[in-house]
Amino acid sequence: MPIRHYATLHDYVQANRCVTDEYDDVPLELIEGNLPADLIGTLYRNGNGRFQHQRVWYDHLFDGDGMIAKFSFDGQSVRYRNRYVRTAEFVAEEQAGRMLYRSFGTNLPGGFLKNALKMQFKNTANTSVILHGGHMLALWEGGWPHRINPDTLETIDRYDYDGVLRNQFSWLDSRITPEMPFSAHPKLHPKTGVLHNFGTVAGTKQRLVLYEVDPQGKARIAQAIDMADMTFAHDFVLTESGHQVFFLTPVAFDMPRALAGITSPAASIRVNRANPTLVLVVDPVGTIHRLTTDFCFVFHFVNGYLDPTNPSMLIVDGLMLGDYPESAAMKAYLAGNLPDDQPSSRFVRYRIDLARQTVTHEPLAYYEGELPEIHPDRVGRPYRYTWSIGRPLTHTMPLFDHIVKIDVQTGEGKHRGDPETLPSEPIVVPKPGSTAEDDAWLVYLRFHAPSQTTDLLVADAVDLQTVARLRLPHNIPLGFHGLWLPERVKTAVPTLT
Ligand SMILES: [Fe+2]
Repeated sequence: MPIRHYATLHDYVQANRCVTDEYDDVPLELIEGNLPADLIGTLYRNGNGRFQHQRVWYDHLFDGDGMIAKFSFDGQSVRYRNRYVRTAEFVAEEQAGRMLYRSFGTNLPGGFLKNALKMQFKNTANTSVILHGGHMLALWEGGWPHRINPDTLETIDRYDYDGVLRNQFSWLDSRITPEMPFSAHPKLHPKTGVLHNFGTVAGTKQRLVLYEVDPQGKARIAQAIDMADMTFAHDFVLTESGHQVFFLTPVAFDMPRALAGITSPAASIRVNRANPTLVLVVDPVGTIHRLTTDFCFVFHFVNGYLDPTNPSMLIVDGLMLGDYPESAAMKAYLAGNLPDDQPSSRFVRYRIDLARQTVTHEPLAYYEGELPEIHPDRVGRPYRYTWSIGRPLTHTMPLFDHIVKIDVQTGEGKHRGDPETLPSEPIVVPKPGSTAEDDAWLVYLRFHAPSQTTDLLVADAVDLQTVARLRLPHNIPLGFHGLWLPERVKTAVPTLT
């Protein structure tokens, strides 16, 4: 009698096993279904490639060295390439053969004396990848972007937008934070083509710096807004109307402790649950509105827009956590343990009334989720659907092992979870000539715990059914955020150095 193997949590976390191989456009084996002939383009995904250096394990899920995976679809086959981002810190550690840098959630081994006053952190370049203004950039919210050759995935250089990201607030500010961060969640305005982004900058003051990059790639600082604390902000909302919405939650880094090396930045985070969340809105003419809502934490927003029936009402959909997940839980997860009572993220709709200065919120759907995606043409506009990883609230498995589709107008949801698998963020690829919002494919990675294999899936965005499944030549972590380019990139790129 065959013995059924049930995956344990330890099997699931092998989705984060370190990648040791880099492939050059190898064809993937089709093992289920058929590739759509008109699915032509390139999927890029960025994420953690490895969680250890010289057998020293990182302490946090967010600290893995950035690796970009590229999948080229020609309508008949898919070719696969992957490369680590060669940041200066990655290269230096490879050459030294040991860990040299602290990172977001990991201090150097050896305790306080090994970390004291070490203020240079590893830029892991591991969070997202964009193409804008003629540059492909690997992004990490704690530092500068890295320019990537979109054809070869070779790392070109660190990119400061012609000096715009160099801290010039004051001499002392430039010493504390020489390189101003550029978050991993920029938003492209659907009409102007301007890329909006932000960075949280520690210094003599804590600042929320707003950037704008025109379609030609020229950047400027649009505003620098003082913050009371060094708030942990990962994402924001840009509406077609030009409103920008930030949730400055009472979750903040203790910068003196982090910079002194007493703890990692992640472990320095203080959560003040008695305080409300500051909802900061920058309107199209740059006026700042400060409103409040209940204590919460939000990693990712789904979308936001100006209510077509009320010009003072902003609708903002996000994945709201009732508490901030402790740093120690991230380390436990990487070791194959999942602490009880971890906060989970629910789909929530916020209504921000700028006339009445009120913020209300209500559940959007009876699902938990993360890494939400929408149709690319609906960013900042009224929309109907979102797709994400997640699970129905009644599901007992503690990991997000389903692909979820939410109708944000009705609150109805669909979900698909294949046995003993974990999916990545599903990227939405509209079908050529489509008009319906869900007339699209989803492309995502899926890790199968019992066999320890990773597949690339194409699914129908209407019913989540698998259209095609291809096997990767090795297991790669599911990663954070990706990008679909409808046709193969032919970008002029600078000479590699
Ligand atoms: Fe993110």
